[in-house]
Amino acid sequence: METSSYQLRRSELEQYFDRTAVDDWAKLTSDKPVSRVRATVRAGRDRIRATLLSYLPADLRGLRVLDAGCGTGALAVEAARRGASVVAIDLSPTLVNLARERTPKDLGAGSIDFRASDMLDPSLGRFDWVVAMDSLIHYDAPDMAEMIARLSSCADRGMAFTFAPRTPLLNLIWLVGKAFPRSDRSPALEPISERNLRERLAAHPAMKGITVGRSERINTPFYKSQAMELVRP
Ligand SMILES: C[S@@+](CC[C@H](N)C(=O)[O-])C[C@H]1O[C@@H](n2cnc3c(N)ncnc32)[C@H](O)[C@@H]1O
Repeated sequence: METSSYQLRRSELEQYFDRTAVDDWAKLTSDKPVSRVRATVRAGRDRIRATLLSYLPADLRGLRVLDAGCGTGALAVEAARRGASVVAIDLSPTLVNLARERTPKDLGAGSIDFRASDMLDPSLGRFDWVVAMDSLIHYDAPDMAEMIARLSSCADRGMAFTFAPRTPLLNLIWLVGKAFPRSDRSPALEPISERNLRERLAAHPAMKGITVGRSERINTPFYKSQAMELVRP
């Protein structure tokens, strides 16, 4: 994608997920003991991953799935265990290597092709399903809507993704947070209200014929995320 906001944010995220946060991210996504706060984040993420996977058919044999922004690969592994041929792509070569190392040898009928690159790379081709868990949440609303439109337009059946929900209370917390410098240099979240997101998607020409299906919000003190399903009837 060509916008300067997208390219700037993408390079910040690559720096963050490939260097600054690699060790934290590896630990959070492992079974290793973590602080109580991080344990609630881990539990929330497990729930939202299960929700996204519940939007896909139970039997994925013979189907192509794109895990866009796969991180350490947990969702890709679950999809492959159900028989999917998964392309799992992430900006961070370090996380992709870790994902590869963590992948069980026996995936039955499924497979995973790991790549370190941009999820919007047009050479990836077409898929039956696209999933994007917490990988669009750092992009501003126009870029995020454009990314969803591009990703869902290469999905023949549907897409399942998360966004950071913006509610009046969360908006207040977000605005207060923005007034302070972030100590961990993590890229800011870009919360968006469900209504704003739906309006942007409905207005996008590439979303013609694609409808919003199920949606579910997880709202725990330290992890807030909303899953959404897009379907092509
Ligand atoms: C919060 S992590 C989530 C990782 C994984 N989906 C999970 O839930 O464990 C966001 C991931 O999205 C990746 N990402 C962000 N923008 C991307 C892009 N344009 N192309 C590929 N990966 C991207 C980041 O590198 C990072 O690993």
